[in-house]
Amino acid sequence: MTELHRSLRGAYNIDDLRELARRRLPKGLFEFVDRGAEDELTLTRNRTAFDKKELLPRVLMDVSARNQKIALFGTEQASPMVVGPTGATSLLWYDGELALSRAAAKAGIPYTLSISSIAPMEKIAEQGGGQQWFQLYMWPDRNMSFEVVDRARTLGFKVLIVTVDNVAAPNREYNQRNQMSVPMQLSARNIWHAAWRPHWTTTVIARYLLTTGIPTFSNLPKELQSNLRGKGIVFPRNGSLTWDDMRAIRSRWPGPLLVKGIMHPADALSAINSGADGVVVSNHGGRSLDSAPATLDVLPRIVDAIGGKSTVLLDGGIRRGTDVAKALALGARAVLMGRAPLWGIAAAGEAGASHALAILKTEIDRVMALTGCTAVAQFRALQEEPEDATPVP
Ligand SMILES: Cc1cc2nc3c(=O)[nH]c(=O)nc-3n(C[C@H](O)[C@H](O)[C@H](O)COP(=O)(O)O)c2cc1C
Repeated sequence: MTELHRSLRGAYNIDDLRELARRRLPKGLFEFVDRGAEDELTLTRNRTAFDKKELLPRVLMDVSARNQKIALFGTEQASPMVVGPTGATSLLWYDGELALSRAAAKAGIPYTLSISSIAPMEKIAEQGGGQQWFQLYMWPDRNMSFEVVDRARTLGFKVLIVTVDNVAAPNREYNQRNQMSVPMQLSARNIWHAAWRPHWTTTVIARYLLTTGIPTFSNLPKELQSNLRGKGIVFPRNGSLTWDDMRAIRSRWPGPLLVKGIMHPADALSAINSGADGVVVSNHGGRSLDSAPATLDVLPRIVDAIGGKSTVLLDGGIRRGTDVAKALALGARAVLMGRAPLWGIAAAGEAGASHALAILKTEIDRVMALTGCTAVAQFRALQEEPEDATPVP
């Protein structure tokens, strides 16, 4: 790793970065990122599933030449990780989406810009560098979705992810307690929380107010765009969307298309039958339906259903290189990460995100060595039953 930003010294793993983020962000914003829906059963399960899964070490296999590169949709990337879509990243750090995009580019992995992000996609396309993907929520009025899709296509975003698991507003009671909402409330509680975090208040909120003004969700369809104090994001939450809407997006987007939020093998098949090139096995990081199973636990059935003919990615709970190895052992081609790079951004902007990605890359390299793998595709073999040992003569 290169010389570390002073504020990152002592951050040896993703949990350390989370702690730095907790100390820098106002309570309401930290919990908005950190927590899950309702009783956080699914949030906890995502982690427990990784903790329960074992990796069997292999030894003396000459693993001196290790390489974690993979190719997704014909493009090579440095590691089997993708920065997943997260809304409002620019509230964690001034211009946080640009910082995260640049960190991903430097790490040689794709960055996914969320439709509920603040930086205009034009700015990310022009200044972010690297390989860029875009994430869409669909609207029942297809022209609204098409407007966004066409904009992303013209700008050269490579992969379109359509997220389908958020058709009802998730129940996150702590956001109500913290009065974290859009339109943003200027309540005594919010001001109190911000007062305890002067670095964030001056370097993020005050800087916006002195430069570009109140941050705006600038990638929504035009008629829905508003700033944080305005009418708020109007998500398509009447539940009327169907696979026909997905087919419509397919007809409009010529590049690779992924459906995110798939947990059931039948839905994985429907995604592929609607023309998608693959799926992201995801429960929105435990932020949507509480009581959904862990993504790692449903992964094998989805890989059985569609893995042979399409790309299966996974997210939810990735905090260690061993987690990446476990997901790949069970058939994922790569993983998406939500909170892990966000903790880096919240702690120290681009330097923090780069540090998060470097930690994970180093950990992947180490787990490769300790499990006898020189390429990440070999993690899949770790899943197989050990061969019978040859008896010692
Ligand atoms: C603060 C935050 C915002 C998110 N916003 C979006 C979003 O705009 N679109 C989306 O598809 N998923 C969104 N997600 C879900 C992530 O893409 C991803 O599925 C999830 O975070 C993975 O779990 P992990 O955080 O444990 O890695 C968000 C997650 C977080 C933590």
